[in-house]
Amino acid sequence: MLDVAFVSADLPRAGTLVLPLAEGAALSGLAAAADEATGGAIARALAAAEFKGAKGKTCVVLAPGAGLARVVAVGLGKVAEATPRHLEEAGGAVAAAVARDTEVAVAADGLDAAQAARLAAGAALRSYRFDKYRTKEKPEDKPRLTRLAVLARDPAAAAAQFAPLGKIADGVFLTRDLVSEPANVLNPAEFAERCRALSALGVDVEVMGPDALRELGFGALLGVAQGSANEPRMVVMRWNGGPDGARPVAFIGKGVTFDTGGISIKGAAGMEDMKWDMAGAGTVTGLMAALAGRGAKVNAVGLVGLVENMPSGTAQRPGDVVTSYSGQTIEVINTDAEGRLVLADVLWYCQKTFDPVFMVDLATLTGAIIIALGHEYSGMFSNNDELSARLAAAGVAVEEKVWRMPLGKAYDEQIKSPIADMKNVGGRPGGSITAAQFLQRFVNDKPWAHLDIAGMAWSSKDAACTPKGATGFGVRLLDRLVAEHYENAAGGQ
Ligand code: BES
Ligand code: MN
Ligand code: ZN
Repeated sequence: MLDVAFVSADLPRAGTLVLPLAEGAALSGLAAAADEATGGAIARALAAAEFKGAKGKTCVVLAPGAGLARVVAVGLGKVAEATPRHLEEAGGAVAAAVARDTEVAVAADGLDAAQAARLAAGAALRSYRFDKYRTKEKPEDKPRLTRLAVLARDPAAAAAQFAPLGKIADGVFLTRDLVSEPANVLNPAEFAERCRALSALGVDVEVMGPDALRELGFGALLGVAQGSANEPRMVVMRWNGGPDGARPVAFIGKGVTFDTGGISIKGAAGMEDMKWDMAGAGTVTGLMAALAGRGAKVNAVGLVGLVENMPSGTAQRPGDVVTSYSGQTIEVINTDAEGRLVLADVLWYCQKTFDPVFMVDLATLTGAIIIALGHEYSGMFSNNDELSARLAAAGVAVEEKVWRMPLGKAYDEQIKSPIADMKNVGGRPGGSITAAQFLQRFVNDKPWAHLDIAGMAWSSKDAACTPKGATGFGVRLLDRLVAEHYENAAGGQ
């Protein structure tokens, strides 16, 4: 991760100086000092570029004098609109603008400690890169920003504000790493090993293999797994930061490390994207790292169901009937609707074992949710208005938005089966909704929300705080949900 240091607000005499500027405001503090030291070169350049401080805009001034290699002005927009998220986005714009620089200082003397921390967090989030398999990239083509010095009015206060944000960014990066990793490397066993590493943060990690899952009776999950030479796992991660005995909040993730579709095989075009069909599980894992890393005062459990969906001589067939852990039977009409089969057993296990305050599951569950909502909102399905409202508000605050979709009896009827308790697909109409109806049959009336993140886990273009590729969507959203509503002296309620 980008090394962020908060230091006292002295004018640097070398390297790159970043000036965050509010819209329409005159240069002041360090910005004014830098302008004076360069004989007014900065103000002249900004005027010539008609830079006025509009949100997210940047203006680069080369070799302005006073020893500085570059000055990068970044617009904060109107001060009144400078929400924490806007400051993060400005930080993201800074990171993008100075990615090729080595020595960078940000003049944050005009910001308070919380604002300076947000700016730094945005820069850190944007500077993520998954380049472990790029062996031939020339050094001059690599980003060079490794350390960001934030020149702050009160460096200790800003550093204290940044500490939890840095831990959350660590969690986001873990999710992005997992989601980016190819499926020949990240199979269920390897994913479970990466979860085990969370024990260093104080997370209690339990890994169950095929024998334990058979013993429990996870017939739905095992049916998906049976076509693959890579054996399944379920991982239970527990963070006990709340009062002893307080009921936990629970997060459940779909972890299909590769989804070929199975016997109902997918087309070849774009199938490589199905390496990130474990993004729900990746988010749960990154979230647990974030909660533990920042020492969240909550009891939380994270459960991930890890399988590979392959066609083979041992794969399950369309028409097979499996018995889920709940005892309910399922006719598997389409082996490509595998995520709901995995989640069915993990959800049932979660509610039964932990009696959680709520369950939120995350899954790249349906292509249909991308048709409905594009890449702007995650679909949200829930049996609980309070939980839905809290998630929606958290989404707006952190810019990881969710849109509530309907559930209802008529949709549920689409998954009736003539031979079993239900079938695993309900036809094309409302495909994301019938998938959610299927899941609801395994939540046993616990407060629950299902986030279909198929459109959000991966991005084909850069965003303010998210380079293209794995986004880490959901970590900041759920961390925020917990921080706002479930972390208090009394613990969960
Ligand atoms: N993993 C896919 C859904 C998906 C599609 C995620 C595109 C990300 C991008 C899921 O397992 C799947 O195959 N769903 C089917 C369900 C259908 C068979 C009812 C789909 O969406 O086509
Ligand atoms: Mn599938
Ligand atoms: Zn899938």
